[in-house]
Amino acid sequence: MRCRATRLPPLRGTKRQQRLAAPWTGVDNKPHAPACCCPPLPALCIVTTPCSAPSPSTPRPSFLRTALGVSLPFARARLLFALGRVDAAFALTTRIKALKIPTRNLDLLRAQCRLKQNSPGEAFEFAKEELRLFPNNAAAERLLTDLRTRFTPTTTYQDAHYRAWVQVIRPYTMVSDDRLWQLFSWAKRICEEDRPGNFAECGVAGGGSSALIAKTIATYSKRPRRLYAFDTFEGMPAPRAEDTHQGVAAADTGWGEGTCAAPMQSLRNICRELAVTDIVVPVQGFFADTLPATRAEMGELAFLHLDGDWYESTRDILVNLYDQVAPGGYMQIDDYGYWEGCRRAIHDFERERGLTFELHNIDGVGHWMTRPQS
Ligand SMILES: C[S@@+](CC[C@H](N)C(=O)[O-])C[C@H]1O[C@@H](n2cnc3c(N)ncnc32)[C@H](O)[C@@H]1O
Repeated sequence: MRCRATRLPPLRGTKRQQRLAAPWTGVDNKPHAPACCCPPLPALCIVTTPCSAPSPSTPRPSFLRTALGVSLPFARARLLFALGRVDAAFALTTRIKALKIPTRNLDLLRAQCRLKQNSPGEAFEFAKEELRLFPNNAAAERLLTDLRTRFTPTTTYQDAHYRAWVQVIRPYTMVSDDRLWQLFSWAKRICEEDRPGNFAECGVAGGGSSALIAKTIATYSKRPRRLYAFDTFEGMPAPRAEDTHQGVAAADTGWGEGTCAAPMQSLRNICRELAVTDIVVPVQGFFADTLPATRAEMGELAFLHLDGDWYESTRDILVNLYDQVAPGGYMQIDDYGYWEGCRRAIHDFERERGLTFELHNIDGVGHWMTRPQS
């Protein structure tokens, strides 16, 4: 099957400082296809919208216009940085990211700004994003190597499988060790207890958490299962007013539209590395479109990872998938403790449906719950 890439409207997005303070190593430095893919995809790849994306050799005029529109502000951002006006430079890069035009050295500049602003955790994530988009960027690689020595990750969890796999997937994920462990533990438990149902992750980015869950399925499941992996694969969509962190609008936190960008190839790479390509079903597009279109195929869910950050993204997941989750099924909400919009979406849904969720704190940010029996 060939991928018929979805042409998405412009996206917005952000990321979080606490999450970014989490230490990761490594980098996806393998070559990848452009986001509007047309190389062969894994047999199960689903793209819901007919292809309207141009091939890399035939850029559409609007793309050209926007690409030209990136050059000047990017040059200005570099100048501001060189002049020591780091805050202004960084704010401008966040606005450029919102154009969703992969721009060489843009995330590198964002990393350099964050270093100057004393946020090395974020700098580390931005360097990784530069390399996801431009795998051969030697300057970003050097910066990442330097940062890696300051963010040496060590897991405190003793499970031999987890320890081995988490080392492999770390370069591909922003999720903290505690939250990854929680995902692993519940995925393993569901498989060992042979509870029926497929798995779904909404919010894949580089693919690290997907690959960890899939490897757990591959190792422990007593029945065939799939992990459906939903994402735009083009970065975060637009936040709304309620998408704040400690009252600061998402776009002003530095994680604006188009951040968290990772091409589907990043997911493919890590799945290949862990030999779980046959388990993972990537689904590209907005949750609001892809979840209803894929729901029937997925059937009952034993496990749902909600990692879409925003109010609307979280709500789209709940509205479309909550009823698919088996009673007692596992749900992990990555952003509950960080983004106010995510938290509100959970409680709005709970109230509207007359439900009572018993939420368990993982690390102050991530929370988990099981679907109430009634
Ligand atoms: C925080 S990242 C996911 C992190 C990932 N689980 C990891 O292991 O690092 C959030 C992802 O959700 C995706 N996303 C957010 N809202 C979305 C929506 N409404 N539709 C599709 N994808 C969305 C973004 O594209 C982004 O890749």
